Amino acid sequence: MKTQQEIINDFPILKVSVNGKRLVYLDNAATTQKPKQVIDAISNYYLEMNANVHRGVHYLSELASEEYEEAHRRVAKFINANGMEEIIFTRNTTESLNLLAYSLGLNELKKGDKVVVTRFEHHSNLVPWQQITRKVGAKLEFIEITDDGRLDMESAEKIIDDNTKIVSIVHMSNALGTILPVKEVSKLAKEHGAYMIADGAQSAPHMKIDVKDLGVDFFAFSGHKMLAPMGIGVLFGKQEILENIQPFLYGGDMIKLVTYDEAQWNHLPWKFEAGTPNVSGGIGLKVAVDYLEQVGFDTIHKIESDLTNYAYEKLSELPYIKIYGPEPKYRGAVISFAMEGIHPHDIATLLDEDGVAVRAGHHCAQPLMKLLNTDATTRASFYLYNTREDVDILIESLQKIYKLFS
Ligand code: ALA
Repeated sequence: MKTQQEIINDFPILKVSVNGKRLVYLDNAATTQKPKQVIDAISNYYLEMNANVHRGVHYLSELASEEYEEAHRRVAKFINANGMEEIIFTRNTTESLNLLAYSLGLNELKKGDKVVVTRFEHHSNLVPWQQITRKVGAKLEFIEITDDGRLDMESAEKIIDDNTKIVSIVHMSNALGTILPVKEVSKLAKEHGAYMIADGAQSAPHMKIDVKDLGVDFFAFSGHKMLAPMGIGVLFGKQEILENIQPFLYGGDMIKLVTYDEAQWNHLPWKFEAGTPNVSGGIGLKVAVDYLEQVGFDTIHKIESDLTNYAYEKLSELPYIKIYGPEPKYRGAVISFAMEGIHPHDIATLLDEDGVAVRAGHHCAQPLMKLLNTDATTRASFYLYNTREDVDILIESLQKIYKLFS
């Protein structure tokens, strides 16, 4: 088993210094850093096997195709899907959710049907549904948030009804850190015959995902938030549903037969992967998944919950800091906060002077910010290579900023 110091040593970028200070990277909900194993795999792909997939019969094409398929099989195992037929590689969570809005939404929704999301959603799980429901004359409704920043299950029970055709909810809020009860909501969706989608962009990097146990029909996530390169994302979908819905993108590789008048679709998952795919990204994702499982989600959870509890406690001791979202036991490794009298962007800029990287702004969740009566927060988000010392540096820097401004 790797020690945390061995984990830290695997991430070359953590040695970078920022303004003469050690980099303290607390922007993991936006994107995570990459271990050398992933960087080497990408580099090795271009050094030794680069070729287009599924077309050539030459050695490199065979090798690249096999590795790319193996990446699908590995991801299927990672989330307990039935096989690579259920794993579509996309660019990211946003593209996975757009795929569903178009392929499932446009084809399955009728006037008067309902799509249900939550008030937590970031723009990727909101704007596509706004557009598609408007186009087909369906309604978009929202499960409410409780006063302490959790999903209001009473509201879910009221809103999900027999007119509901699609329920699409975030698994872990990128802005508040709240972990949502996907399994319970899936049960409700199924009782009413609705499709169930979970946006796992923030959950898949941090906890063991079992799509069967969650009871979802679809699960979307991004590689770059879980140690893999940017530009590779995943959509899990149940095979029997994927077989029956229309593709999202049309073109090369996703067809079986084409005439000047019509086309037949390729078998899964290629039916949904038009054009030359991100082969090196897929291979990088496979190695990232290997890395996460080698460390183990129990270890990752232990590191992250210690850091989240510690940071929550330290931030709560500062009377001029307001923390958004629920108490630590209901959240993942994300803490959004505001400091009295100072704009979140100024806090982030001043933290950067001390080498601390955080995100400030609306976190691609403008309606949620409005609901919280703010337009922005500062957000610290942790991952397996962060330490209590990182949190101490964040807290000391915040104390310094407050002194400077007051
Ligand atoms: N949704 C990503 C974030 O929260 C981009 O930063």
